[in-house]
Amino acid sequence: MRKNVVLVLDFGGQYNQLIVRRIRDMGVYSELIPYSTEVEKILSFSPSGIVLTGGPNSVFSKESLIMDPRILDLGIPVLGICYGAQLIAHLKGGEVKHAPTKEYGKCPMRALPSPLFKGIPEKSTVWMSHTDYVAVPPDGYAVIADTDTCPVAAFEDAVHTVYGVQFHPEVVHTEYGNQILRNFLYEICRAEGNWNMSNFIGDMVDRIRAKVGDRKVLLAMSGGVDSAVAATLMHKAIGKNLKCVLVDHGLMRKGEADEVVAVFRDGLGMNLEKIDASERFLKKLEGVTDPESKRKIIGAEFIRVFEDYGKTLGKVGFLAQGTIYPDVIESGFGKAALIKSHHNVGGLPGVIDFDEIIEPLRDLFKDEVRKVGLELGLDKKIVMRQPFPGPGLAVRVLGAVTREKLEILREADAIMREEIAFNGLDGDIWQYFAVLTDMRSVGVMGDMRTYDYTVALRAVNSVDAMSADWARIPYEVLAKISTRIVNEVNGVNRVVYDITSKPPATIEWE
Ligand code: XMP
Repeated sequence: MRKNVVLVLDFGGQYNQLIVRRIRDMGVYSELIPYSTEVEKILSFSPSGIVLTGGPNSVFSKESLIMDPRILDLGIPVLGICYGAQLIAHLKGGEVKHAPTKEYGKCPMRALPSPLFKGIPEKSTVWMSHTDYVAVPPDGYAVIADTDTCPVAAFEDAVHTVYGVQFHPEVVHTEYGNQILRNFLYEICRAEGNWNMSNFIGDMVDRIRAKVGDRKVLLAMSGGVDSAVAATLMHKAIGKNLKCVLVDHGLMRKGEADEVVAVFRDGLGMNLEKIDASERFLKKLEGVTDPESKRKIIGAEFIRVFEDYGKTLGKVGFLAQGTIYPDVIESGFGKAALIKSHHNVGGLPGVIDFDEIIEPLRDLFKDEVRKVGLELGLDKKIVMRQPFPGPGLAVRVLGAVTREKLEILREADAIMREEIAFNGLDGDIWQYFAVLTDMRSVGVMGDMRTYDYTVALRAVNSVDAMSADWARIPYEVLAKISTRIVNEVNGVNRVVYDITSKPPATIEWE
């Protein structure tokens, strides 16, 4: 199955992951690899096609990213997009020019007959985002589309199957973008459309069995989607030889740890052990108010709990992790400024004596992981779970964390979740939760003065958590949540709704 792959060479464009996702959605396996990948490595994939992405550079700049030009002569179909197209023109002796202003937005295009444009009308709309443009295609290349501003909006060398487009077919604003990518995959690369999640599961189960044999695998479950799906897939492959462990740090949401045990151990019959380490974590967190310190303490304590646990196990064959494709891309490409030190249960190798790591989901995007989960029969409730921070409720209790505050937050959060679900909004809002602020204020209840905590409600919509907009929850729903929290949760007399987006705020409060 892996033979049928289209490689996407990453030149740093903002839509690069999107290109890979579009290709996969069309049934062809695709991977993003650095633009500098050696030709030998590329050939080792036996790719059906290669896409060169857009990027922020200009072919004229000193820092311009240039791949090995032999890639254009391998006899493997190539599609250059935006910067990728300019690069092909530049490397093959065409003429690239610098425009005085950037062209950005929708633009009418005229297309000529070409396999790339099969089934597309002569006139259509495309999405442009560029400054440089191809003025003259290289010798042997034909112009196959133009716009008012781009004399060479697309070009081809049909003999060597090398194509370039100045516009972005992967963006929804390009009217026939999907058809153009589909044409590249199926008309030009002649790829086989065999990438789907049930093939993936079958293939992965075989590969896990072949690799693991009858050795044992240890997997740390967090209650999140990725580790849950990884565990279910591993369990399907090797059954009782998979041992799962859930560290209950006492910072989970109401009923969460028990739910994981009920679903995976009692329901699916997995070999799952829950370690109750809440005392340890709470003790370490005593009096700690700084958010970063809290995160670091929890991350370090996780490792220590595992160290202690590892000592009881002896040598383990494999450590399985729920790493997914965006984690792989992010750790391999680029570095973002540290806003918060994230930690996941995944980052534990080293503390357990094991031979190898196994990451069955490392090629999948989040939506593919969810599809795998559903195909494996996991409940929608688990598969569609919202993200939950590794440090748990510790970063939603502002200031020092205590058992009492955690209890207040758990109850308030459960009410919010109940009401959102009851009003049918749970599928519409990307992430929602309650935060216990460190602020107390005066209220009045039953003619008595109160001096209690303020709970903040947080609900956001986002695609990738990098940016987020606060969710417009109907007032009646907010009113019901507020009334219920104040009436049902001791210690709270005020509820506020967070109406800041990210940036400038972050999704979590700490
Ligand atoms: P922020 O607060 O940085 O959160 O806007 C972005 C997304 O990441 C989640 N989050 C975490 N996830 N480990 C995780 O796996 C962490 O330490 C962590 N901290 C925040 C957060 O819930 C949101 O979805």
